[in-house]
Amino acid sequence: MKALLLVGGFGTRLRPLTYTRPKHLLPIANRPHIEHVFDLLRRHGIHEVVLLTSYLGDEFAPMVAAAKERGMAVDVAHEPEPLGTAGGIRNASHLVTGTFLVFNADVLTAADLGAVVEFHNARRALTTIVLTPVEDPSAYGVVPTSADGRVLDFIEKPPRSEAPTNLINAGIYVMEPEVLERIPADKPYSAERELFPGLVAGGERVFATGTHAYWMDIGTPRKFLQANYDALEGAFPTDAVGAGAGAVLADAVVAAPGARIAASARVSCSCLGRDVVIEDGAAVERSVLFGGAVVGNNATVVESIVGEGAVIGAGVSVVGQTVADGSKIQTTQ
Ligand code: GDD
Ligand code: MG
Repeated sequence: MKALLLVGGFGTRLRPLTYTRPKHLLPIANRPHIEHVFDLLRRHGIHEVVLLTSYLGDEFAPMVAAAKERGMAVDVAHEPEPLGTAGGIRNASHLVTGTFLVFNADVLTAADLGAVVEFHNARRALTTIVLTPVEDPSAYGVVPTSADGRVLDFIEKPPRSEAPTNLINAGIYVMEPEVLERIPADKPYSAERELFPGLVAGGERVFATGTHAYWMDIGTPRKFLQANYDALEGAFPTDAVGAGAGAVLADAVVAAPGARIAASARVSCSCLGRDVVIEDGAAVERSVLFGGAVVGNNATVVESIVGEGAVIGAGVSVVGQTVADGSKIQTTQ
């Protein structure tokens, strides 16, 4: 079975980090996020992937090469202008060979894909949508279902008070190739706002099944950080921590090769990229530092993302910030 991965969004909520790279390449436990998606697919015996690229699509090339080396078959269907989540799927029609999976590939999850496909086949569904419970459904697609799992409605990002359930679209679908015929060609079309509501209104066999496995959309700084904490602390099960990600130190810290931490510095629940330097007396807590970042003497970095090569000056305190690549912070924010 093939998996189509939607990776063409602008990642606006993660700017400035996403001015130069798609959010799917931001590091979770020191590995590009999308590699965790590949791991999940491989664990389920899925070795054929189609990347649905648009914004900064070329940035995926090294990752594609690495995945091929590891035995995955990777195709790319590129949209010079973004075609929306359904338009992107349609744009890969020529690569679809049978029942297929679709992923919002900004989602970090341990969902049981085999169980989802089994559910889909048992219901003879046209489309199956995976659901996950969240506390505030207003930032997601809200999906009420009947007792047997039939989708009754698809309401994208309703006001919180109007959400009929806290079960939301996890951004994982199983689809039959016939779905492709319901998507207009060569124009932007949304899965959430057009395709799914249209299929439901037309009485098509759209079903949904829940997962209680780990699930997190990494699309905002807060959730990107949380995904990293969860990988470090084991809530998201990954063998990446300690393997390709670099040395694992005490206090849920992963440090890539070349990272240097002064003996008098304190670091906890954080990911340090290649060649990061933490100088004397500095404190780094619940943060993600990209390669080459420097935290100066007695500086403090808490619940922040520090971009590539950024320098946090001596004595400066950075709390709850996203620091752009290459910037030099000389005063407390
Ligand atoms: N190829 C392509 N083309 N990909 C796109 C496009 C496009 O035009 N637009 C968005 N994507 C990709 C994004 O890069 C991301 O991986 C995925 O599609 C979802 O887009 P987001 O922009 O992250 O959407 P969202 O998080 O606000 O909402 C979506 O995901 C939620 C779950 O995390 C919706 O599907 C919601 O219904 C869902 O609950
Ligand atoms: Mg998202």
